[in-house]
Amino acid sequence: MNASVNPDMFYPGQDVVDQANVSEYEKMYQYSVENREEFWAEQADTLGWYKKWDSVLDESNAPFYKWFDGAEINIVHNAIDRHLENSNRNKMAIIWEGENGQKRNFSYNGLNREVCQFANVLKSMGVEKGDIVTIYMPQIPELVFAMLACAKIGAVHSVVYGGFSTEALASRIDDAHSRVLITADGGWRRGKQINLKSIANEAMQRSPSIEVCICVKNNELDVEMEPTRDFWLHDLKALPIAGSKCETEQTSSEDPLFILYTSGTTGTPKGMLHTHGGYAVYTSTTHRMAFDIKPQDRWWCAADPGWITGHSYIVYGPLINGATIMLYEGAPNYPYPNRWWQIIENYGINILYTSPTAIRGLMRFGERWPKKHDLSSLRLLGSVGEPINPEAWKWYHHVIGNDKCPIIDTWWQTETGGFMICPLPITPLKPGSATKPFFGNEMAIVDDDGNEVGANEEGKLIVKNPWPGMARTVFKDDQRYADLYWSQDKEGKWIYLAGDSAKKDEDDYIWVIGRMDEVLKVSGYRLGTSEVESALVSHPMVTEAAAVGLPHELKGNAIHTYVILQSGIVGDKKLEQELRAHVGSEMGKIAMPECVEFVESLPKTRSGKIMRRVLKARALGEDEGDLSTLEE
Ligand code: PRX
Repeated sequence: MNASVNPDMFYPGQDVVDQANVSEYEKMYQYSVENREEFWAEQADTLGWYKKWDSVLDESNAPFYKWFDGAEINIVHNAIDRHLENSNRNKMAIIWEGENGQKRNFSYNGLNREVCQFANVLKSMGVEKGDIVTIYMPQIPELVFAMLACAKIGAVHSVVYGGFSTEALASRIDDAHSRVLITADGGWRRGKQINLKSIANEAMQRSPSIEVCICVKNNELDVEMEPTRDFWLHDLKALPIAGSKCETEQTSSEDPLFILYTSGTTGTPKGMLHTHGGYAVYTSTTHRMAFDIKPQDRWWCAADPGWITGHSYIVYGPLINGATIMLYEGAPNYPYPNRWWQIIENYGINILYTSPTAIRGLMRFGERWPKKHDLSSLRLLGSVGEPINPEAWKWYHHVIGNDKCPIIDTWWQTETGGFMICPLPITPLKPGSATKPFFGNEMAIVDDDGNEVGANEEGKLIVKNPWPGMARTVFKDDQRYADLYWSQDKEGKWIYLAGDSAKKDEDDYIWVIGRMDEVLKVSGYRLGTSEVESALVSHPMVTEAAAVGLPHELKGNAIHTYVILQSGIVGDKKLEQELRAHVGSEMGKIAMPECVEFVESLPKTRSGKIMRRVLKARALGEDEGDLSTLEE
């Protein structure tokens, strides 16, 4: 790393540097990009394979790359089975706390028992290798068991975030054509019960492909069960079919592990498809190196398993690394704003990985809440989901990390499977920059013609190479995957387009600015303007709608919407509330617009595309820019 001292940088303490899993970046980085396949083969060698690969990287059908082709592996063999053969068997795998203070712990041995039973239940319901099972759950251990149970038998999971609502769930079930849905009666949030099963019931009515619904009893809600379709998990587990032993299915490296829907520029959410082999290698390597995982660590990724962050860094990466993971179901500030800090103290958490929006949310309650607690167990802190503003970074570093914990700001996406740009614990940090590419990755900032821009100039963020954790395709839509993400440069080399704008400074530190497309980041959650708009238009009084993201102090972005009503209907405060609630019940609370403005027309291009950029500029009182394509 840079030997001279730069006053803009935060340098890690000697104790952190001395024990780092990776003690040097530049040389290893050079090696990893010059010998990409060797580097990844070395990492892959640390995992358990039933059969090794014929080739590390198969580029013959680019951009549809294959990693470790010809190999046989199952990610669950690595996340659980291997640990049963060594001293991890009795180690705590999951520590769970519910909002009301309930506690449940599972050793690796206990996790295996739960996953085997769940896998046997799925098999008895006819789930087979390759089937897509939809999971819609609160943040309880059974969510993790369900994901792992699917993977264990070679089925593919499609987790729908528990904060989503009817239409979001129904459309994802439909696209995946799932026959089996796993859900729970309900979840908890801020002392209130969220009735997931009733949302699931409505979604199943809209998506008739579901034949079997397995329901976990979590909060004793009185729910409607359809006798020929719906089963309680505890009833099924009591049957002889649910034995506590289940063979892990051998899958090919490139067999699908999961699909996860994410919002894009236009149209319906895309099911990003990830596979067993490359994803296992990528998530475990990035987790081990960037977060310096040690056997004695207690790791807390305070995301929801229903998003990619949870898939990669609550479930798969950490379990492959044999870590102890913390899982908490509930609000960060319930019953008081010290809840998270209390958890860190109670359980002796060593590494906390969360989002800027959560940090800002807790920061507003002031220092006195974290100051009530002994947070000295913390060694590293992490951030993900959106650019972290320097003010939040400094608060996190100073108040939570006591100036001694490096902040690992990780830039990545649902599509990338794992960290693409992130510091190591030894990296000097600049607040707000995710620093440098992870090993094996060559990143650049380019202009519209694909030429690299100069230092501190804004451009498009691209990746110049394939990596093992990359999504392999958009489920059922190879063309959309190739068109949306890949293009060829002047030499014919394939380039991955991230959809973000960014800058590189004079020290080659990368500063991600934000999305360039119609994707909104609301509290770090990714939503498409088109999804919010179609939820609005599904209301009988609305003919047309536009959604834009405007800066918001806590959420990063807040959704502002513009609506044209059916003729003869006059918009008022009551209708505004009704439309906001309508989006909430169709999509989920996170998609609920901040405001709904009734308008007579929307700015459009001559080809009929809504110019959201113009709406945004108007709302912010900024220059509307080039209006030459605006319809008269
Ligand atoms: O805009 C970037 C932002 O989140 C997008 C990806 O969103 P999603 O697929 O939901 O995955 C989020 C968790 C990995 C990116 O295109 N983003 C993510 N992490 C960062 C970030 N922006 C700046 N800094 C980050 N660390």
